[in-house]
Amino acid sequence: MLSMHNIAKVYRTESIETHALREFSLFVDEGEFVSVTGPSGSGKTTFLNIAGLLEESTVGIYELDGRDVSSLNDRDRSRLRNEKIGFIFQSFNLIPDLNLFENVDVPLRYRRLSSGDRKQRVERALESVGLASRMKHLPEQLSGGQQQRVAIARALVGEPRLLLADEPTGNLDSAMADQVMKFLEQIHADGTTIVMVTHDPDLANRAERNIHLIDGRVSGEELVHSQEEVSQTVGFNGDQPLAAKI
Ligand SMILES: Nc1ncnc2c1ncn2[C@@H]1O[C@H](COP(=O)(O)OP(=O)(O)OP(=O)(O)O)[C@@H](O)[C@H]1O
Ligand SMILES: [Mg+2]
Repeated sequence: MLSMHNIAKVYRTESIETHALREFSLFVDEGEFVSVTGPSGSGKTTFLNIAGLLEESTVGIYELDGRDVSSLNDRDRSRLRNEKIGFIFQSFNLIPDLNLFENVDVPLRYRRLSSGDRKQRVERALESVGLASRMKHLPEQLSGGQQQRVAIARALVGEPRLLLADEPTGNLDSAMADQVMKFLEQIHADGTTIVMVTHDPDLANRAERNIHLIDGRVSGEELVHSQEEVSQTVGFNGDQPLAAKI
């Protein structure tokens, strides 16, 4: 699904060079659930932004789904990102003056879909996170956990193959964090590849594999669970896969 080989990322300002990633290599298999941990400043967000085609590496080879994406132009990168990748951020990143329906609809604006088709997809996505009755609400009228559920609906409405989450539970209390994790586990059980950055070791251990970064490099990795075990821990809404509902 995702293959990075000898990636380096250098941020340059007039006086300082920061090596955010160096000699960074990682392979994530289709359908895997990988957590990424490491101290503040170790390069976790930088890695995720490169993986999600939000930023380009300074050197190195990045293949997404078997295709070398290291040197795509901006337009092709945006298109590929829209087709293949969903993002969830710590601070939800909903657009404050759009209601929930409009927020979830944003990724579909770039697709060639009829308005009826779009409406149906957005409604199903909001239903799947239990917020269909709030479609006309603004983000500020929701709790943090609810806002993150809207962000999950937005990330999934385009049916991405790869879901990238940067500390998705960082602003949530433990009960809400658990709820968001259950959604991620369900999405993973439905076949989506997930890479999740977290500071929380308990949440990191709910993935199949944990990658630890120090100083812009992979300093270690650990197999946490087999795929079967992770699937068995899924308890959310039991019967129907989330992707099927969207
Ligand atoms: N746009 C930027 N310009 C300059 N330096 C940057 C930029 N973005 C990140 N950095 C630097 O790159 C390094 C890695 O940052 P990154 O945000 O990837 O860390 P992180 O592991 O996500 O940290 P945190 O846990 O605090 O979110 C840091 O030293 C940071 O200061
Ligand atoms: Mg970060």
